[in-house]
Amino acid sequence: MPIKRHVSLQPLARDHHEGLMAALLLEKGYKKKAPLHQLQDFSTQFFHSVLVPHFFIEENAAMPLLDHPELKAGIEKMLHDHVQLKKMIEDIQHQPSYEAIELFVVSLKEHIRFEDRVLFIQLEQWAGEVALATFVHQESKRNFCEVFPVKFWL
Ligand SMILES: [Fe+2]
Ligand SMILES: [Fe+2]
Repeated sequence: MPIKRHVSLQPLARDHHEGLMAALLLEKGYKKKAPLHQLQDFSTQFFHSVLVPHFFIEENAAMPLLDHPELKAGIEKMLHDHVQLKKMIEDIQHQPSYEAIELFVVSLKEHIRFEDRVLFIQLEQWAGEVALATFVHQESKRNFCEVFPVKFWL
């Protein structure tokens, strides 16, 4: 991990690393036209087992900081992105397509890069130690990609 994160943000940052790995594998999958149901299973399971708990921690910890003038815009974007990503997964669940998978991949990468390069830096600068401690996330599932049984990306 190139950026040295505040210790309280490190588990979330490791989830981000797993998220970028998941995006890379899905990208390989849709480029080689792997069976759509396999990409659907992978993306929906990744969302529910990694992203849902991850978003839960981020949202609960960030909500009390919404009034902070330096953090408000970034947190609002974070919340908006989470809603959009959830909608994309619902689309993939109900009407899977390679285009829907690609949109999810592109949006997930953009969201993670925004948090890593903008929001987390703002949090380190402005949130303060007490608020930063609420971002600690113990349930990080960092080997989702490694243990996923169907290697559709190979
Ligand atoms: Fe997020
Ligand atoms: Fe995140």
